[in-house]
Amino acid sequence: MNQSVAHEAKPKPRKRVLSGIQPSGDVQLGNYLGAIKGWVDRQDEKDNFFCIVDLHAITVPQDPHELRHQTRSLAAILFAAGLDPAKSNVFIQSHVPPHAEACWLLNCVTPIGWLERMTQFKDKARNENRERMSTGLLDYPVLMAGDILLYSADEVPVGEDQKQHVELARDIAERFNRLFGDTFVVPEPVIPEAGARVMGLDDPSRKMSKSFADIRGHAVRLIDEPKEIERTINRAVTDSYNEIRFSDDPERSGVNNLLGIYKVITGKTAEEVENDFASARGYGDLKRSVGEVIISELAPIRARYARLMDDIAELDRLLSLGAAQAIAVSGPKVDEMKERIGLVLQGDEL
Ligand code: AMP
Ligand code: TRP
Repeated sequence: MNQSVAHEAKPKPRKRVLSGIQPSGDVQLGNYLGAIKGWVDRQDEKDNFFCIVDLHAITVPQDPHELRHQTRSLAAILFAAGLDPAKSNVFIQSHVPPHAEACWLLNCVTPIGWLERMTQFKDKARNENRERMSTGLLDYPVLMAGDILLYSADEVPVGEDQKQHVELARDIAERFNRLFGDTFVVPEPVIPEAGARVMGLDDPSRKMSKSFADIRGHAVRLIDEPKEIERTINRAVTDSYNEIRFSDDPERSGVNNLLGIYKVITGKTAEEVENDFASARGYGDLKRSVGEVIISELAPIRARYARLMDDIAELDRLLSLGAAQAIAVSGPKVDEMKERIGLVLQGDEL
C-alpha cells in the first residue's frame, strides 16, 4: 500500500463538543429540545464534554440543600435522556478546579465593557438592584468562555439565547491568542434549526425557562407525570384564528410553538406536520396530539431518571469518571495559559 492511500484511510478526528447546563430550576422541554436532545443525537459523531455548571448557578442566590439536589438530579436527567458515559464526559464544573482558575485568568484580559453589553446581563440588571446583584452575574460569560476554551471545543451546541455568550468566548479567545500567542481554538456556536427557542406555554412571547418552571402552565418539566403534561398542554395559550399552521405572526405564536414542539419531537418537515393536522377539528385535537408525542418522548426518560436517583452512589461514580476525563484535558490547558501569561508553574525547571 502506498503512503498516500494509507494517509487517506485515516479517519478524520472527531470534532470536540462542549456544552453546559445550569443545575437551577427544573429541566424543561426547551432545555431538552433546544440543547440536550441534540447532544444525545450527535454523541456518536463527536468527542463530547458536558458540564453541569454549578458555579454559574450560584451567580444568583441558591438554597444550598436545593442546589445539591438539583445538581445530582440534573446529572440523572442527562444520563436518562441518553448521554452515554462511554461516549460523553458528563461532569460537575466545581469538581474541575481549572474552570474557576481559567475564569480569573481570562477576567484579566476581558474588557468590562464587553460584559456590560451582554443582553442577558442587561436584562437581569434592568430588573435587579445593582446593590444586590452579584459580581458573578456580570462575570458569568467569562466563566463560560473558560468552560469552552479549556477543552479546545470546536463546537458549542446551545439554544439561541446563548449565542451571544459563545461569540464573546470567541472574542476572548482571539484576544488572548493575539496577546500571548496561539493558545485557544476559536469555537463555533451550533444552534439547532428547530427547537432553538421553545416558548412559554402560558405566554408564548417569552421563552420557556427553568426559572419559571414552577409557575403553573408555563413549562413541561422533563420529569412531569403524563397527567400533568396533558394538563399543561391543554392549558396552553393559543388564539382565536382556529387555523393549524406555522406562522411568524406574534398573535399566533402559541399555536406556532405547539407545532414547533411537535415538529422537533417527530422529526417531520413543516409540511408533513401541517398535513398531520389537515383534518383536525380544532385546537383541542392539536393539543391532544402534541401532548401525546411529548408524553411518549419523555416516558422512558422519566423511568430511567427514577432508577438513577435510586442509586446515588452509582450516579456519583459516573460523575467522577467524567471529572477525571475533564481534568485530564483542562489541567494541562490551564497550565499552558499560566505559562504564556508569565506565571511561574510549581515545579517548573529554571
Ligand atoms: P439553561 O436553562 O439556561 O441552563 O440552558 C441550558 C441550555 O438549554 C442552553 O443551551 C439553552 O440555550 C437551552 N435552552 C434553555 N431554554 C430554552 C428554550 N426555551 N428553548 C430552547 N433552548 C433553550
Ligand atoms: N450559560 C449557559 C446557559 O445558561 C450554560 C453554560 C455554562 C454553557 N457554560 C457553558 C453553555 C459552556 C455552553 C458552553 O445556558
